[in-house]
Amino acid sequence: MLKVEDLKKVYKSNGKRIEALVGLSFSLNKGEIVGLLGPNGAGKTTTIKSICTLLLPSSGKIFIKGVDIFRNPAFALKNIAAVLEGNRNIYWRLTVRENLEFFAGLQGLAGRNIKEDVKEIIEFFHLEEKRNVQARLLSRGMQQKLAVACAFIKNTDILLLDEPTLGLDVESTYELKNLIREKAELDGKTILLSSHNMGLVEDVCKDVIIINKGKIVVKDKVDNLKNFFRVNAYIFEVEGRIAEEDKRKMEKEFLFVKFQEDKDKTQIEVELKDILRIYDVMDFLRQNRLALRSVKNKEPDFEEVYLKIVKNETLDTV
Ligand SMILES: Nc1ncnc2c1ncn2[C@@H]1O[C@H](COP(=O)(O)OP(=O)(O)O)[C@@H](O)[C@H]1O
Ligand SMILES: [Mg+2]
Repeated sequence: MLKVEDLKKVYKSNGKRIEALVGLSFSLNKGEIVGLLGPNGAGKTTTIKSICTLLLPSSGKIFIKGVDIFRNPAFALKNIAAVLEGNRNIYWRLTVRENLEFFAGLQGLAGRNIKEDVKEIIEFFHLEEKRNVQARLLSRGMQQKLAVACAFIKNTDILLLDEPTLGLDVESTYELKNLIREKAELDGKTILLSSHNMGLVEDVCKDVIIINKGKIVVKDKVDNLKNFFRVNAYIFEVEGRIAEEDKRKMEKEFLFVKFQEDKDKTQIEVELKDILRIYDVMDFLRQNRLALRSVKNKEPDFEEVYLKIVKNETLDTV
């Protein structure tokens, strides 16, 4: 559906050369939601702008449904909708409704369908009260919602979302998450999503591409990455509190220990070198008369995994 081949981009500003992309290649199949992650300046926006032909790369090729987009930019525009950083994809002087009608109209829908689609999406994003307000007068969060709504109403096969949840409140982020999932699963949309919201990425993307300094560091399934970094970490929940002295003892005895105290219970997170050490923790609890309520395996958190990858680039590049 979307194929990027050896993409390179050098910006020249004030006589300086900035190598933003140094040979990026990847592809997305139909119906896939792929996360494009990386620290600030990694080249995410440059990649996304190149795919929607807003930027001419220094070299490399991009194909949509097999068509070279630099030879046929009109084809790219017909197949792609994007949410760009800073809501650059909406028109400031048009109202919410006019913006939506404009983007819906780009795909040549009939008048009646446009009105219905616009009404539906305005309701979905709870923008009813703002329908006749110019985009420039909306709050930052509302503008972001409108930018996302405009991208979705274009109803293209491919969606590029550059930081779509920036400035959105928790509720809108949750709604957007469901919308993204629904669009990929039910309508077979292909989505490239750049975000620093790892919770969102973990929830909607099966695959991620992590880039840094213009090149790919890792390209893999979220689950594989989580498994790769899975550690022998367990959470023991015990009755009551633990004496400071006992805490110190545990910290000395085991690799990594973290305590979280509640009213009538304490959670002890322990990272073990060897899974059999779990019995040593049990022995310790028994000896110190700590009543065990439950033990569970700690699920690796994708945000932690991401940070480990970005900090430690010794992983093989794919
Ligand atoms: N218009 C530009 N002129 C010069 N340098 C730029 C321009 N846009 C981006 N860059 C540089 O290119 C690199 C990649 O930027 P960008 O694609 O925006 O990264 P990201 O979106 O991952 O934060 C950065 O070093 C950035 O400073
Ligand atoms: Mg960016």
